[in-house]
Amino acid sequence: MTTLRLGDTAPDFEQDSSIGKIKFHEFLGDGWGVLFSHPADFTPVCTTELGYTSIVSGEFAKRNAKVIAVSVDDAESHRKWIEDINDTQNTKVEFPILADEDRKVSTLYDMIHPNASTTATVRSVFIIDPAKKVRLTLTYPASTGRNFNEILRVLDSLQLTDSHSVATPVNWEDGDDVIIVPSLKDEAVLKEKFPKGYKEVRPYLRVTPQPNK
Ligand code: BEZ
Repeated sequence: MTTLRLGDTAPDFEQDSSIGKIKFHEFLGDGWGVLFSHPADFTPVCTTELGYTSIVSGEFAKRNAKVIAVSVDDAESHRKWIEDINDTQNTKVEFPILADEDRKVSTLYDMIHPNASTTATVRSVFIIDPAKKVRLTLTYPASTGRNFNEILRVLDSLQLTDSHSVATPVNWEDGDDVIIVPSLKDEAVLKEKFPKGYKEVRPYLRVTPQPNK
């Protein structure tokens, strides 16, 4: 196990899941992926996280992103728990939960932090791009539920960077102004890419309306 860093290739694996065996890279296809771990089945915080992720699954689909969860419980346990999630969170979980009993995935992605817990996975999130590169990692403690709207916001930001050479400023939300990446300097290219123009606050801080709006 080595710690995964941004830009690394997301390790491929085959693992059982709530919907049967998954070959990870094949499952992702040529879209984006969000792989996230949670400590255990039938736990309260995780129940709300997976329920909410299911409720906003259409938002992930709009961004061409597949969601896949993982914990160290077995597939039968996952399937029983999904019934509870559906009942209590008023949803229908359709994304898979990997059954990582042998800790194959947890080890590849460094999701067990022994000084926090020797058995349970922490709350990790990996955003993986269509080239299978890791573009975001985050780790939350077991007792803090993650904000899945933030994961969607980061997906929006990464996709804007890839398509329009812009970065997103502090607390940016979809529709707000964005920042032209500092490496872009050619006047002709700037004119072509940003027909709405831009404001040069400083030579390194150039603000433009969100280009895809
Ligand atoms: C959980 O729901 O996963 C959880 C809740 C409190 C502490 C740790 C985990």
